[in-house]
Amino acid sequence: MGISIGLVGLGEFGAAFAKLFKSHPLVDRIALCDFEHHRMKKFSDDPFFQDKLNSRDMYTSLDDMCKSDIDALVIITQPWLHAPQCIQAMESGKHVYSAVPLTCVPDADEVLDWCDKIVETTQRTGRHYMLGETTYYHPEVMFMRRQAALGMFGRFVSAEAEYSHDYSGAWGCSLREVFAYRTDSKQGRKWPKILKESYLNKGIFDGPMHYPTHSVSGPVSIMNAHALKVSAIGTKPTGYDEYFDITGQIFSNETGFFHMSNGSVVTIREHREITAHGYDMNIYGTCATWRGDQWYETKRQSNTSIDSTPKTIESTPAIDEMRDVLPLEVQKCFLEAQNDSLGDEDIPNIEFTPTGHKGSHPYLVHEFCDAVAKNRMPAINAWEAARYMAMGATAHKSALKDGEILNVPDWGDAPT
Ligand SMILES: NC(=O)c1ccc[n+]([C@@H]2O[C@H](COP(=O)([O-])OP(=O)(O)OC[C@H]3O[C@@H](n4cnc5c(N)ncnc54)[C@H](O)[C@@H]3O)[C@@H](O)[C@H]2O)c1
Repeated sequence: MGISIGLVGLGEFGAAFAKLFKSHPLVDRIALCDFEHHRMKKFSDDPFFQDKLNSRDMYTSLDDMCKSDIDALVIITQPWLHAPQCIQAMESGKHVYSAVPLTCVPDADEVLDWCDKIVETTQRTGRHYMLGETTYYHPEVMFMRRQAALGMFGRFVSAEAEYSHDYSGAWGCSLREVFAYRTDSKQGRKWPKILKESYLNKGIFDGPMHYPTHSVSGPVSIMNAHALKVSAIGTKPTGYDEYFDITGQIFSNETGFFHMSNGSVVTIREHREITAHGYDMNIYGTCATWRGDQWYETKRQSNTSIDSTPKTIESTPAIDEMRDVLPLEVQKCFLEAQNDSLGDEDIPNIEFTPTGHKGSHPYLVHEFCDAVAKNRMPAINAWEAARYMAMGATAHKSALKDGEILNVPDWGDAPT
């Protein structure tokens, strides 16, 4: 017998995952949940869902979904809701997948407190928690994790990672628009008042480091290291814009410099007022480096001793080569879902090509379904997620103190 999955939050982002979860071969029942009934209807009316979706499995609140016998919930709601909703789900006996970040509120100490609660709840309830970080399954990140596991980097020296998303939309999809539609629903309309009364009126302001997972997850997961200390600097918006005012962002850009547990140093840039868009990451080791889209490998006699005549080989690995391989049965089912979404004039795909944030979506779906079905720890578990969030929250605290060096809390490695 397969597993049952409940999709909570079918807004802009959640809707992109519905067909993938529905088509996964380990899933034999799907349930939907959103306060906005019309957001579920487009799936319940779709013949593609009929064999796994029963009309009794449509819920208009998380509270009702938690009372059901569904095995696991996929929570893709507004970012400030994730942590309490995931805890509610685990307390109700359900495994849980959360969209990033673990939570997103202006108070860095509260963020750290939620990390603590998520780790404690998953440990106490025995339910699995997974963070749906898309960068974790970017092709080059998968490739580098495999190279690191083989010891190809030698000693890690340093890394830099960046996530740039301009507030004004100079590069499309402005954060201003994102905030507008996330607060334009029954649930979303409550947030501006809470934001103002619980944080801004009390002098607690937000910053880009509170959404750190797209940048930090690469270096942390590739190097298998966590941050020990950070010094960060924040820069204020260059002029007045209502976006920064209503969202309570004191800084439009934040940069953190981290000392890592493996002796390396990592620079993280989170930009929200910038002429750039997307992700960037370089990882430097004594025996190999990833820079730009290139892999450089130095052939030394040994990874630990100095060799006077090393030879460096440069290569540009192909995208498909860099990706991990999904099981064939899973690819076959995802291909059916992909082809079902094509228009009448489109030519059906013969082979499955991963899509969605550099092809990460199918990997996230497979990892969660497989972990639930096998009752095993997911790759991006509570302990890993807490490491990402602790880096961002502590960097924000440091930026508020003009770069003071602060210790980054850690909850240890996930139990094996
Ligand atoms: N690359 C990425 O990883 C990436 C990209 C985009 C969005 N996201 C994340 O995805 C999340 C969702 O973003 P979005 O743009 O889809 O937001 P959205 O506002 O469009 O959708 C959220 C939905 O959740 C529903 N909801 C909230 N609480 C509920 C409850 N208790 N019961 C039932 N329904 C509830 C809302 O009604 C709404 O339809 C965000 O947290 C965001 O950070 C991640």
